[in-house]
Amino acid sequence: MAFVERVFSGVQPTGNLHLGNYLGAIVNFVKMQETHNCIYCVVDMHAITVDVDVWGGPTQLAHNTREVTAAFIAAGIDPKKHIVFNQSQVSGHAELTWIFNCVARVGWLSRMTQFKEKAGKDRENASVGLYDYPVLMAADILLYRATHVPVGEDQKQHLELSRDIAQKFNNDFGDSIRGHGFADGQFFPLPEPMITGPATRVMSLRDGTKKMSKSDASDYSRINLTDDADTIAQKIRKAKTDPEPLPTEEKGLEPRPEADNLVGIYAALSGRTKQDVLRDFGGGQFSSFKNALVELCVTKLSPIASEMKRLVADREHVDNILIDGAERARAIAEETMKATKDIVGFVRKR
Ligand code: TRP
Repeated sequence: MAFVERVFSGVQPTGNLHLGNYLGAIVNFVKMQETHNCIYCVVDMHAITVDVDVWGGPTQLAHNTREVTAAFIAAGIDPKKHIVFNQSQVSGHAELTWIFNCVARVGWLSRMTQFKEKAGKDRENASVGLYDYPVLMAADILLYRATHVPVGEDQKQHLELSRDIAQKFNNDFGDSIRGHGFADGQFFPLPEPMITGPATRVMSLRDGTKKMSKSDASDYSRINLTDDADTIAQKIRKAKTDPEPLPTEEKGLEPRPEADNLVGIYAALSGRTKQDVLRDFGGGQFSSFKNALVELCVTKLSPIASEMKRLVADREHVDNILIDGAERARAIAEETMKATKDIVGFVRKR
């Protein structure tokens, strides 16, 4: 069966959205709106899989949920044409997770590198939710039978797991699926990751070999979406570089991670290729390139920062966006859950 193309993606409300989240995910979310029906979810149920002191507790979680929503809207996501909501408002995410828990194998989850990284040495002390995180993610996507998932490079393995779950479900219940009117036995699509854009990996401004991260101790390592113009300028001026002038060819960036990162950021924000950027700045000193980069960052990011500020202050407006989005998400989710329950053999009211 050809599935209707649908986009789903999620962002965790864990605070401190930065340029890496923006260029690696949100910019692509905005773009996909032109060609697809899109569902963008603030995954608050994923956020609580780490220790409570890490996700910050109830007040912080609610604030972060509204802030991610504000970032979506400020960046240009249209919550009327598409769907923006927070995960916990649609119970289907948890319901489908349980069924998928019984499809996914312990061996599959044990191979997940993100779990190993996040659990660290003290694996016995990790939450069961952290272990199950990828199954909830598969449920997020497949609850809407989404076909395309814009994500960062680091989510590739989780997408593979989603495909494995969809495939095993389709296999295990093939006869029942056909019996319920899906002639080819394919109830869930195998969702495709979409890892695109010129800056799928934005690196730390202090160390070009490390990813830009909200948990880096130095705030100078990242540009937060809420930073004002002066802060952005300071951070870029202090960003690590090397003593050579910028290369004229893209190949010249390869052994120079910091130069590569800054040129990549410039390219991504201006919608050009790195080679194009080097045509303008290659052979020049970092100081003049940095001036141009400051100007570009401020031009592109300041309007987003001020719109985010305005939205976060208007709590009722943001909450209404999430409530309206959840209602429309729920309508799709309920259809999937009814069919899934029938396929599995769960008796229900008709
Ligand atoms: N795990 C994703 C991340 O950390 C967030 C996420 C949760 C997600 N559910 C999703 C992304 C479903 C895409 C689709 O980036």
